[in-house]
Amino acid sequence: MLMDSVLRTPSHKPAFRVAAIYTIIGALWVLLSDRLLVAMVSDVHTIVALESYKGWIFVMLTGLLIYYLVDTQSTINAKYQEQLRERDDELRLTFQNAPTAIITFDLCGRFLSLNQSACDLFGYSEDELRGTSYKEITYEEDMKEGDQLLAQCARGDLKTYTFENRYIHKDGHIIHGRVHNGTVYGTDGRPSILVAQVEDLTKRRKAEQEAREHRERLAHVDRVSLLGEMAAGIAHEINQPLTAISNYSDAARRRVLSNNADPEKLLSSLEKVSEQAHRAGEVIRRLRALVKKGTSQRECADINDLVRDTVNLAAVDARIHDVSIDVDIRAAAPTVFVDNIQIQQVILNLLRNAIDATEDEPNPNRTVRAVIEIVDEELVEVSVEDSGVGITEDSAEKLFSPFFTTKKAGMGMGLSISHSIINAHGGHLWFSRNPERGTTFHFTLPLEEGTPHD
Ligand SMILES: Nc1ncnc2c1ncn2[C@@H]1O[C@H](COP(=O)(O)OP(=O)(O)OP(=O)(O)O)[C@@H](O)[C@H]1O
Ligand SMILES: [Mg+2]
Repeated sequence: MLMDSVLRTPSHKPAFRVAAIYTIIGALWVLLSDRLLVAMVSDVHTIVALESYKGWIFVMLTGLLIYYLVDTQSTINAKYQEQLRERDDELRLTFQNAPTAIITFDLCGRFLSLNQSACDLFGYSEDELRGTSYKEITYEEDMKEGDQLLAQCARGDLKTYTFENRYIHKDGHIIHGRVHNGTVYGTDGRPSILVAQVEDLTKRRKAEQEAREHRERLAHVDRVSLLGEMAAGIAHEINQPLTAISNYSDAARRRVLSNNADPEKLLSSLEKVSEQAHRAGEVIRRLRALVKKGTSQRECADINDLVRDTVNLAAVDARIHDVSIDVDIRAAAPTVFVDNIQIQQVILNLLRNAIDATEDEPNPNRTVRAVIEIVDEELVEVSVEDSGVGITEDSAEKLFSPFFTTKKAGMGMGLSISHSIINAHGGHLWFSRNPERGTTFHFTLPLEEGTPHD
């Protein structure tokens, strides 16, 4: 409707038309009136008498003509004004009732007008915001980007743009918005005002945040349960350095008691005690990191280090189950931007599953292999290969569903959580059946820029 209403803008044409008609009639009158009089009236006295009225007749005729022309033009103008008013009402109504927040502001970023949705979104009335800068309600960290885009618009370098911005509601809560801005140009062809539409993403961002927290809580439960399963191996891993500490300190004590303590030998024993204490401390540090409940924090990491670290943690547990773990690194320092703990958790889950699947196999060389390779320019792939029981058709369908397990003591959460962790990191987790025996689980992660490719 709004777009269909055609408005004719006022121009100089009507004035020109009136002047032209007046000039033509005036010229014709001057040129023809005398001849017409002579042709129509033969009596000289009558001609002279009529000549004196000719001027009055001209004035009357042109007066009538001008009245007619101006009246017609006034009707057109009134109609135009009426159309303009209707169009204005339509626009105002559309602006006010639009379900999206619409704002107009000047090139310095000062609010000119806000519709009802915008007022509802920010919690202020139009009067409270009109004339103030958009910075008053913008989240501080997001101001720089808004400023730069506004400056580009004011220079006329940018006509439309879309960006995400956070605002602060009158009651203090943060509003997430996607802003679509467009520049309106004046009659001089230069930018005059900006019209912004703000899409409210707050609910979506909140739901994403809740899903993330939910995933983190589940992941934490899974990590604690994983470590519970590995308790025997972990106890062994810590017990070894503790036994060594006990032996070295006994030896040192004996030396001191026998009164022939060679300071060099004593020092060497103490150094070994300290070394072993560090070793035990390192295991505990890794464990604490895994058990710690914290919000997801991503950082750049070398995936080779993450796999090596995790294999160290799982190796003793594997040995107890008579399985060895090989690591095959085929990529030089692949850097990924990840939550280290969560990715270690995925690797640990896959290693644990592979160990479980392999331990009852008759094969004397029970081995699990972790391979790291760069598959294309943007992805690194980690695969955990076993020669275990394999996966039946029936299990394959439910493998990644929560609580699916074929194990007596299993929770059935490992693969489901690993799947959501990898998805949240922009990767993919899947499995393939090995040609001879067993299964390989693979996952990919996006590589950070600057990782060398061979
Ligand atoms: N490498 C594998 N070889 C064979 N079957 C596997 C393998 N990995 C997983 N599975 C099957 O998938 C099921 C689900 O694995 P998932 O890791 O989700 O749970 P779980 O290991 O049973 O329990 P938990 O929650 O303790 O990890 C397993 O019970 C097992 O049947
Ligand atoms: Mg598992």
